[in-house]
Amino acid sequence: MLTIEKQIEKILSETVKAVYGDKELKPVEITVATNEKFGDFQCNFAMMNSKIIGGNPRAIAENIVNNIVANDVIEKIEIAGPGFLNIFLKDAFLGELVKKITKESYQYDGLNLDGDVIIDYSSPNIAKRMHIGHLRSTIIGDSIKRIYRFLGYNVVADNHIGDWGTQFGKLIIGYRKWLNEDAYKANAIEELERVYVEFTNQSADHPELEDQAREELKKLQSGDEENYRLWQEFIKVSLEEYNKLYTRMGIDFDTYYGESFYHDLMPGVLAELEEKKIAIEDQGAKVVFFPEEEKLNPCIVQKKDGAFLYATSDIATVKYRLDNYNVNKLIYVTDERQQDHFKQFFRITDMLGWEVEKQHVWFGIMRFADGVFSTRKGNVIRLVDLLDEGKNRAYEIVNEKNPDLSEEEKNTIAEIVGTGAIKYADLSQNRQTAVIFEWDKILSFEGNTAPYLQYSYARIKSILRKATEQGKEVNEEATVIFKDKAERALAHHLTQFPTVVLKAAESCRPNLIADYLFELSKKFNSFYNACPILNQEDEILYSRLLLAERTAAMLKEGLGILGIQTLERM
Ligand code: ARG
Repeated sequence: MLTIEKQIEKILSETVKAVYGDKELKPVEITVATNEKFGDFQCNFAMMNSKIIGGNPRAIAENIVNNIVANDVIEKIEIAGPGFLNIFLKDAFLGELVKKITKESYQYDGLNLDGDVIIDYSSPNIAKRMHIGHLRSTIIGDSIKRIYRFLGYNVVADNHIGDWGTQFGKLIIGYRKWLNEDAYKANAIEELERVYVEFTNQSADHPELEDQAREELKKLQSGDEENYRLWQEFIKVSLEEYNKLYTRMGIDFDTYYGESFYHDLMPGVLAELEEKKIAIEDQGAKVVFFPEEEKLNPCIVQKKDGAFLYATSDIATVKYRLDNYNVNKLIYVTDERQQDHFKQFFRITDMLGWEVEKQHVWFGIMRFADGVFSTRKGNVIRLVDLLDEGKNRAYEIVNEKNPDLSEEEKNTIAEIVGTGAIKYADLSQNRQTAVIFEWDKILSFEGNTAPYLQYSYARIKSILRKATEQGKEVNEEATVIFKDKAERALAHHLTQFPTVVLKAAESCRPNLIADYLFELSKKFNSFYNACPILNQEDEILYSRLLLAERTAAMLKEGLGILGIQTLERM
């Protein structure tokens, strides 16, 4: 089905066409009315087009109202102020539309769904624990993936793991010299991190270690069998560890093409950069300089010793994607510190004439209320610990609220509430602001939190169960009627979901969906306070039951887009 805005726009566009013929007019656009006095939707077409049409906007508005084409959607249109159209919808139309919600999918008129949207997120560096920046990238990237899929895009989720670079020479040395087998078996990444730190400490007193590391790296790069095997092993054990976390968080990828995957493409990319005179030699290195007014630092694409860099691999990645996919758009999710890197290499691919839409979705740093939440040496916050702590705290709450549940149920609920709270704390914020992470706040059952939304869902489910016990099942044939303002407000809000998802996709802002869901819960509460469901005449009971059921389904769908699970009871 079409979104509600599109259905109204279509009626108005047909009207305008009938009245003003083929004049080159600005399109009809509808927005939600800011106040219920102004109807359900508003349109400023008359003001936007008064110069083109000629004449006063109020007269244009009147002309539209008097000639509106026949339809079952609009109850009445009032003209306000200088020529606003205040649109009031028919209850019957709204009621029928609500019934289709979460049952029928949307057609998004005018959206170019051709090709693949490739989203590059999470992307940790091998042999290191993921830090909080990777956590945010993982959570936000996963949600953007779900948003785009909801709209009907074909999405490729790519984990661009950092599996290439100078650290591998050091790791190989550390592994050979200092590895503790038992510790490695118990937790490979932690042990690799430890030997890496050991390398850093030791090389302060033994600078020759640095040369040895470079030697091992060179051997690895020229295909030495033993080093290659070790490198593969580091990747394997790291991915096993990451995958445990991904599984626990309900996150998956279509490809894990790391930086090394593009290695063979880099010489060709460099050649093209030099041939097109985009990269030039500077003190032995190959560098791209940007016009002064662009205020971008020069970007090194090859070092003096012949090594390629992070930027080179990202440029090669764009080439690979253009050659191997039908790219619609490329999206990259990282923290704010990488903004310059993305500006630089995006610009370089433009200079190369590779036409493709690219978006760097960056986010701010997350902090604990009582300190910095970051990766100072030896003070990395492990994601497992974060998830465990979320779960334990959620367990306490569940145990207190619902002591009679079985141990198994309590644990399941705690895991879903804990993980959901962490994800939501991240997704519900404007991603570009710094997030302050406070356990009590994010796990609260009140306010804009996952537990509140999950609880709203479970509560509706319990109402529906109670109705069933009384022999009143949700009846899909029922008519949705509006006796109270709160019922209509809830229905109106329900119809807004697809438009919100569209906006969230355009700006890659999952927090718009969080805001929507929070508002939905509040609207449901006002409805439920004003409109008892059970013990009503059947006509009203079935109407309200259906509204409640659709609200629950919408909460589930919306939280699902944020990668958050719901619970039937909690
Ligand atoms: N591995 C990088 C890091 O941990 C992030 C990679 C982001 N993706 C990209 N295509 N550059 O900082």
